[in-house]
Amino acid sequence: MSAVQGLFISFEGIDGAGKSTHISALADAFTAQGRAVTLTREPGGTPLAEKLRAMILNDAMDALTESLLIFAARRDHLSCVIAPALARGDVVLCDRFTDATFAYQGGGRGFDLEMLSKLELWAQEPQGLGHDLVHELGKKGAAPALLQPDLTVWFDLSPEEAAKRLAGARVPDKFEAQPVEFFRRVAQGYANRLALDPGRFARIDASQAREAVWSSVHQVFTGKGWLS
Ligand code: TMP
Repeated sequence: MSAVQGLFISFEGIDGAGKSTHISALADAFTAQGRAVTLTREPGGTPLAEKLRAMILNDAMDALTESLLIFAARRDHLSCVIAPALARGDVVLCDRFTDATFAYQGGGRGFDLEMLSKLELWAQEPQGLGHDLVHELGKKGAAPALLQPDLTVWFDLSPEEAAKRLAGARVPDKFEAQPVEFFRRVAQGYANRLALDPGRFARIDASQAREAVWSSVHQVFTGKGWLS
């Protein structure tokens, strides 16, 4: 058994909320404390999931097809990257995870939440999975056990502010090109996820200046005793 306990941390927020620089800074902070860090993202994180990401972000498709591809990418990512890293005792910093599907496909697209919950379970179905994921699922207790992040950092920013920050930054993908109303529903989707499991979430006011956002993020991690 690994002496060091793995940590699974996800980062969420609407497009333009500004999570990336803070994720990199956290990776540096954990590395400086001698922890092995796996820095990864969804959709993506494996060669197969990155191919699916390109389709998900660029090709037109209905909401169920989109959700199926996202969960297919997630299963591959869980099986090949996240579970083995947790089993090694790594700190896994994951730029988006399942909450994004409930917020974007559920909230933004209005897709059925019960269907998403079923797909979430299927994506973690132990049959055919490697030992690492089965072991990580088992550590979470009662079946059917869902592997969830130990902490989800939600960068909360108003859709109007996010749109200003994104304007002209790059050629928008399928999601970034959505109107403000879409992101209002996504933000509400994140708020609903937090309400269902408040202990797992840290809500960060992402409208602050970058240094103040970093200080809020850092405080969450020192408060948990994960960083000094
Ligand atoms: P990123 O630009 O933060 O890497 O996120 C990729 C895009 O994919 C972003 O617009 C959100 C979207 N997305 C979903 O719609 N559902 C999901 O489950 C995930 C993980 C991302």
